[in-house]
Amino acid sequence: MAGMRAGILGTGSAVPERVLSNADLEKMVDTSDEWIVTRTGIKERRIAEAYEATSDYAVRASEKALQAAGVAAEEIDLVICATVTPDMMFPATACIIQDKLGATHAGAVDIESGCSGFLYGAAMAAAMVDAGMYRHVLVVAADLLSRITDYEDRSTCVLFGDGAGAAVIGPVPEGRGFLAFDLGSDGSGGEFLFMPAGGSRRPPSAETVAAREHFIKMQGQETFKFAVKAMASATESVLAKAGLDKDAIDLLVPHQANIRIIDAARKRFGLDESKVVITIDKYGNTSASSIPIALDEAIREGRAKVGDLAVLVGFGAGLTWGAAAVRL
Ligand code: UT7
Repeated sequence: MAGMRAGILGTGSAVPERVLSNADLEKMVDTSDEWIVTRTGIKERRIAEAYEATSDYAVRASEKALQAAGVAAEEIDLVICATVTPDMMFPATACIIQDKLGATHAGAVDIESGCSGFLYGAAMAAAMVDAGMYRHVLVVAADLLSRITDYEDRSTCVLFGDGAGAAVIGPVPEGRGFLAFDLGSDGSGGEFLFMPAGGSRRPPSAETVAAREHFIKMQGQETFKFAVKAMASATESVLAKAGLDKDAIDLLVPHQANIRIIDAARKRFGLDESKVVITIDKYGNTSASSIPIALDEAIREGRAKVGDLAVLVGFGAGLTWGAAAVRL
């Protein structure tokens, strides 16, 4: 393995079948299809059934990624699950995924970096593979944001959806693989995007439930401003680390939070629309899974090809941000 760089061996994704459209939301809160489309770019999102959990989608996405990679579950050395909506507070959702996949030789750990989670997981996986510690690391980002979305709050409930995306990270042939990562955080902005209760600070109680504190609280404009800056600086930084110019980008795979945030990044880097992967219209913001879902769809549609230089970039709760430059 020495000398072989870590890269993406295969990807997979899974979203619920049930569609929640803007027309549906018009019946639930005081909003309109026109407002949602022009302010966010979202037309519909997918919502899991009541009996389902995050790991159900994570397993489906992971199975597809394993198949695409040609790697058996028993060959996985570590499962990293990025989620803010674990099946339970503990054990880790990664352990549930490990068991359901039959990844009998794998360690399992959850990471929580909000919508940047896939990039954090990919960076850890790539470092472990590059170091020769592990050969195959499964990184799966999965969230059922519908579980923590307040469907009485029009400023957030129109944004979020459910889904999962996965990648098997392992050694790839010369000339391919991850070239650079950029990860960052600013915890002082934690209260721009958070869920107040349910943890050790405010354990669940009748009072926290009555105060609707088990739902996402977001300061939209503050998050928006942060996002535009973070997307630009993380992309610039990762290109500089990789020794590449913005013209080298074949495909930008951004976190899908708002089409206006994505467009700002696209324009800043002078990219044609054909070079930017968009799924927000059909899935909304699916948290950490949005980047691997978009990448998986681009690969399966033939838009992302072997040898392409892809920049994956996102931001999220924490606040956190991250970017990866990868030769597919
Ligand atoms: O994964 C990271 C997660 N989060 C994000 O990336 C979110 C980043 N922020 C955003 O995407 C945008 O800030 C939002 C889409 C959340 C909001 O868009 P905005 O252009 O920043 O709107 P705003 O918050 O400034 O609100 C403008 C108006 C307000 O009415 P008034 O005060 O001007 O009368 C809101 O009450 O729009 C109103 N509004 C709505 N109207 C119809 C807020 N939500 C809605 C809604 N339907 N769903």
